[in-house]
Amino acid sequence: MGYDRVIVNAAVVGPEGLAARDVAIKGETIAAVGEGLDRDGAEVVDASGKILIPGGVDVHVHLELPFCGTVSADDWRTGTRAAARGGVTTVIDFAIPYGEETLHDAFRNWKDRAGPKAAVDYCFHLAITDWDRHGPEMESMVRLGCPTFKEFMIYASEGWQSDDRAIFNTLERCKDLGAMLLVHAESSRVLDELIARHHTPELMAKHGARLHAITRPNVIEAEAIQRAITWAEATGGRLYIVHMSTRQGADLVKAARARGVDVYAETCAQYLVLDDSVFDGPDGHLFACCPQVKSRLDQDRLWRGLVDGEVSVVSTDTCTFSREQKARWEGDWTKIPMGLPGLETLIPIVYTHGVRAGRLTIEQLVEKCCTNPARLMGLYPRKGLIAPGSDADLVLIDPEKTITVDHARMETNADWSPYQGWELGGFAEMTFSRGRKIVDHYRFVGEDGWGRWLPRERAGSLDG
Ligand code: URP
Ligand code: ZN
Ligand code: ZN
Repeated sequence: MGYDRVIVNAAVVGPEGLAARDVAIKGETIAAVGEGLDRDGAEVVDASGKILIPGGVDVHVHLELPFCGTVSADDWRTGTRAAARGGVTTVIDFAIPYGEETLHDAFRNWKDRAGPKAAVDYCFHLAITDWDRHGPEMESMVRLGCPTFKEFMIYASEGWQSDDRAIFNTLERCKDLGAMLLVHAESSRVLDELIARHHTPELMAKHGARLHAITRPNVIEAEAIQRAITWAEATGGRLYIVHMSTRQGADLVKAARARGVDVYAETCAQYLVLDDSVFDGPDGHLFACCPQVKSRLDQDRLWRGLVDGEVSVVSTDTCTFSREQKARWEGDWTKIPMGLPGLETLIPIVYTHGVRAGRLTIEQLVEKCCTNPARLMGLYPRKGLIAPGSDADLVLIDPEKTITVDHARMETNADWSPYQGWELGGFAEMTFSRGRKIVDHYRFVGEDGWGRWLPRERAGSLDG
């Protein structure tokens, strides 16, 4: 057959589940999946004892994002190298218009930044920050290959906030266009009120970074999710709740889906494994992200949501800030640049705390980190699947191998890690991106600019 490379004897997580298979690569795509594939003239990778999964698809990242008065520290180079090492071969960032910019301006800005640096494939959701200006651009953005849009229910100070009118209108247009609206759901008015009430020298001295959690009780997220669901139900537009962190949110999404609302939710790795006790330590401010990590009860509910189906995706919301950037807070939690590094540890965390801990099967890991994100974002079957014709984005995992997380030995530009010292399995021994080996023996061996922008036709669905 003349394959370029054949990965033999792997435990392959394919569409029919886990099975011992060979996977043959020709050029940039998977040419065959089966037993005893022809190896003549091909490079043979012996994967005995290893697991082969599709490359991860992280649909929620912010690389070199201007935010909170600074710029997030993982750029397209370090961020996508981190992705590769963590077994993520596709990232979707959020192109955000600033000032008077159009969606097309934002798209071009993001593409210009990503193109020369990205080591893995990428595309963008388009952030609508001004409905009257950006709404009329939606159709041409979809035609250009961007069928997913984003609105933030908070962040007035960044100029990003959308109101109910914008969300309602955008969902209506999404229905017409075969597009999907991603929403950051937090209730701005009550959040701002709680922040104002607590923003006193006495309380800041008393509680420090914990005020980040105190001012964001679960109801802040739950009320906003409920409202976004209301507009999705009224319009029939497809809604995707990003970075869902609360048990109440999971209940609301479950109930809405049960009555037929076209709504999906993702959570992020940090909400599955971190809880708000992180704010009590001397480095508590480092852990500020938005929404903030919640309680053990919320963690348990989100894990259950992954199994039961109301949580469809695990992403990272990677938005890295260095210790120096986080130090801008000087005791005032409202000044902490919000976000965490995550791309390098997404699959290791879900593997270790999901699969190894008996909460998820390896098939469910693939569903939540590879297949569902590809399907919902209109990348399937090109991404998220090990089958002939799909891109040869493949990740080889040694189920016996663990690595102690140490930011100093990682590709991320973070000089700290929320998981420093954690023992994690599931790192990529090898990662292939469109047939090219970009991680070998846990080290990045790829190339800046190898990644390609991925045009998409429509947002996808998991139902029907
Ligand atoms: O803390 C976070 N998540 N920073 C990035 C912006 C956002 O809300 O996703
Ligand atoms: Zn957000
Ligand atoms: Zn985000």
